[in-house]
Amino acid sequence: MTHGVPAPVHLRTPPGPTIRVAAVGDIHLGVDSGGGFAPVARGLAGRADVLLLAGDLTQHGLVAEARVVGEEVADAEIPILAVLGNHDYHGDAEGEITEILADAGVTVLEGDGAVLDIGGVRLGVAGVKGFGGGFAGASGSDFGEPLMKAFVRHTKDLSADLQFALEGLDCDIRVALTHYAPVPETLIGERAEIYPFLGSYHLAEAVDAGGADLALHGHAHAGSERGSTAGGVPVRNVARPVIGKPCALYEIRVPTTVDRESAGSAGEWRSAALVAPTAT
Ligand SMILES: [Fe+2]
Ligand SMILES: [Fe+2]
Repeated sequence: MTHGVPAPVHLRTPPGPTIRVAAVGDIHLGVDSGGGFAPVARGLAGRADVLLLAGDLTQHGLVAEARVVGEEVADAEIPILAVLGNHDYHGDAEGEITEILADAGVTVLEGDGAVLDIGGVRLGVAGVKGFGGGFAGASGSDFGEPLMKAFVRHTKDLSADLQFALEGLDCDIRVALTHYAPVPETLIGERAEIYPFLGSYHLAEAVDAGGADLALHGHAHAGSERGSTAGGVPVRNVARPVIGKPCALYEIRVPTTVDRESAGSAGEWRSAALVAPTAT
């Protein structure tokens, strides 16, 4: 205020509604893990609107382990969506594991998406396991031997699936859920030599092109929680050893018209729309 003139009052558009997303990956339940995760899943009632599981739900991809996972989440009172991880593929039983989880009420995503109506806000989640290949300056290419080409093409195919699934979501908030990492920032703490086995830049390109507001992944147990794509989409590594708690909880605000108009880029309002309160 100067010379007694009151400062102008800026009328603000009320903040948009929020959605509370609980997320964790790499819970790695074994046949002896019964009872460990059930209190976490049950305890999210009233604290989160949805639980997203970022793969590696089992130790060795055994059907018996998947049954434990199903039993542990069966009493959850909020919707659960998941992708599988590399460990869940190890027993060559990913189809049966998917069926067991589905019977327990979990929506397992692989190249597709789902939209939840949460209090009138449409939350869209697209998911793929993803794969490796590396990041800018240190990535593989589909060149040379058939096995090398197959390796990189698998990443490219799954990334294309992710983009397609994201683009197909008719929703207010769009989340990309993967097991492998889309960016190297959330791998910091891991040995650089193994980055190509932990994620791929193709996933980040899909996240950006698909218009995601948030990307969640696991797999990198020794990585870091926070990162961002080149397009400004927040990335969070929710591997359980990384978040250091049973479950991470993110509150995502639906961007208002003011958010969109006042931000210099799409990425800025996306970051502003994301807050991370205390975990469960
Ligand atoms: Fe893992
Ligand atoms: Fe993994």
